[in-house]
Amino acid sequence: MIKVWIAGSNGQIGRALNDILDPLEIEVLNTDLDDLDITNTEEVLNFGIVNRPDVIINCCGVTDTDLCEKEPEHAYRVNALGARNLSIVARKNGAKIVQLSTDDVFDGQSKKPYTEFDDTNPLTVYGASKRAGENYVKEFTHKHFIIRSNWVYGKGGNNFVNRVLEVAEQGKTLSVAGDQFGSPDKCQRSRKNDPVSDQYE
Ligand SMILES: NC(=O)c1ccc[n+]([C@@H]2O[C@H](COP(=O)([O-])OP(=O)(O)OC[C@H]3O[C@@H](n4cnc5c(N)ncnc54)[C@H](OP(=O)(O)O)[C@@H]3O)[C@@H](O)[C@H]2O)c1
Repeated sequence: MIKVWIAGSNGQIGRALNDILDPLEIEVLNTDLDDLDITNTEEVLNFGIVNRPDVIINCCGVTDTDLCEKEPEHAYRVNALGARNLSIVARKNGAKIVQLSTDDVFDGQSKKPYTEFDDTNPLTVYGASKRAGENYVKEFTHKHFIIRSNWVYGKGGNNFVNRVLEVAEQGKTLSVAGDQFGSPDKCQRSRKNDPVSDQYE
């Protein structure tokens, strides 16, 4: 049976992944900060030796961008060195690793949608620390998937869509940043014109 290790399993994406993987015939190994700090190299390597995962999904992260600016060392330790530790385990086990990264590795100046071939230019500590994490993953194993997502939302969880719904239900007003853009609707529309995705709709 395939073993999938979800590091950061208590977070928004870790929990959503558990919901998706639950019905499948695979073994899921869940860890979060309480059980296994991914910055602790020795403990992470030991976990890999004992459990021998086939797939590692790195859902850990310092995602609070203001905190990252205030505590860059902490941001780099988790977002970059944590990813490095997990990718060492992936390499040692011949496992695949999925690294959750961010569109913040780009500077957002492009007028066209970004592709994986565009140059990165992070403007924040968060973006820079996530790019450093990506680079470690790429360096340690070629069996990697790097996902540069932007705003993630789903049922439950502290995200923008749920916040808007919550405030709307209370009939309150909400102040939001005017210089940040996400495009979930656009993604759906472009998927409709994509013959490969059409097969799955
Ligand atoms: N959500 C988004 O919109 C979005 C967009 C783009 C990329 N991403 C990326 O996707 C990943 C997951 O995002 P998310 O929204 O699920 O984040 P989240 O809800 O903040 O979850 C992150 C989890 O990682 C844990 N963690 C933090 N430091 C750790 C450490 N040293 N060792 C082990 N676990 C640690 C956190 O524990 P504590 O809560 O106890 O700190 C939390 O449970 C992140 O890497 C993020 O950069 C997210």
